[in-house]
Amino acid sequence: MPPKWYWPIDPSNIPKIVVEPPGPKAQEIIKMDESLVMQSFGRWYPLVIRRGGYGPVVEDVDGNLYIDFNAGIAVMNVGHSHPRVVEAIKRQAELFTHYSMTDFYYELIVKHASMLRDIVPISGDKRVFYTNSGTESIEGAMKVARGHFRNQRPYIIAFLGAFHGRTYGSMALTASKPIQRLGFNPMLPNVIHIPYPPYPPYRCPFGRNLTEEECGEAVLGYLEDWIFGKMVDPSEVSAIFFEPIQGEGGYVVPPRNFFPGLRKIADKYGILLVDDEVQAGFGRTGKWFAIEHWGVEPDIITMAKAIAAGLPLGAIVGRTNIMDLPRGGLTPIPLAVTQ
Ligand SMILES: Cc1ncc(COP(=O)(O)O)c(C=O)c1O
Repeated sequence: MPPKWYWPIDPSNIPKIVVEPPGPKAQEIIKMDESLVMQSFGRWYPLVIRRGGYGPVVEDVDGNLYIDFNAGIAVMNVGHSHPRVVEAIKRQAELFTHYSMTDFYYELIVKHASMLRDIVPISGDKRVFYTNSGTESIEGAMKVARGHFRNQRPYIIAFLGAFHGRTYGSMALTASKPIQRLGFNPMLPNVIHIPYPPYPPYRCPFGRNLTEEECGEAVLGYLEDWIFGKMVDPSEVSAIFFEPIQGEGGYVVPPRNFFPGLRKIADKYGILLVDDEVQAGFGRTGKWFAIEHWGVEPDIITMAKAIAAGLPLGAIVGRTNIMDLPRGGLTPIPLAVTQ
């Protein structure tokens, strides 16, 4: 039996099409959208959502019911309108919705940060920084990484196929589709992209006949021998940003030896590993964070999406000695403090 918060529909009836989509109501809304909203989104089909609610089922504005494999694009990990989420939103809305956490203190933040501290796969002392979205978590992590080295290490390594967001810093790390950068150059400088090894390796960029292990080694070797050997001294690299499973890039799972090997290289040269769990985190792969499947500890983890079931929240969690930007370094300092 479905739990009682679900709206009362018979699961054996799903999916249920009552009018061929897009129905009349959906068509009307899409027409209005086209006349009001900039059409730069990558929408692939004309679903106009009315409500979620029946666990994995969503209803469109014409009453069609679908099994929701999108989950709001990897956001609704606990389902739509989970009663505990709804209750928490209501409770907080009645207390206050904003008081500026950058200037004052919230009890809830302390509670939440201690919960994050207990689940992230980074040992030792760590600190949390809160943001409003995935892209902002990436921007913040870039500043934390470069700022930690006081800009003595201006380079960042990222991967071909990566999606880290669409604001200027995160866009410079993103390399999954040319259209995402088309017309926006110059990008943030000093970002170098290297291939991302797929497992199984039949699409390995270094040859189709390589084994899983050889493909992982080939990418690690490329980084050390070609990038560090021919182009940039690793002492100038602050961080390697990666998705533990590439999402937008095609749901690419890397080989088992890849992240342990990347950790070794990072340790050898004092480079930070930044694990972007914006899409893969919060239970989506069966563990709290996807990197746990490789048993590797990153230095910084970026998160958003499922962290708050679609409310605009993100976070950066990192080792305390790295999360060391000075007061005002990631947020404005109120005038009263600077005077
Ligand atoms: C891995 C990853 N990082 C960052 C982002 C950017 O997150 P947001 O859309 O919340 O800015 C996304 C969004 O899909 C993502 O998948």
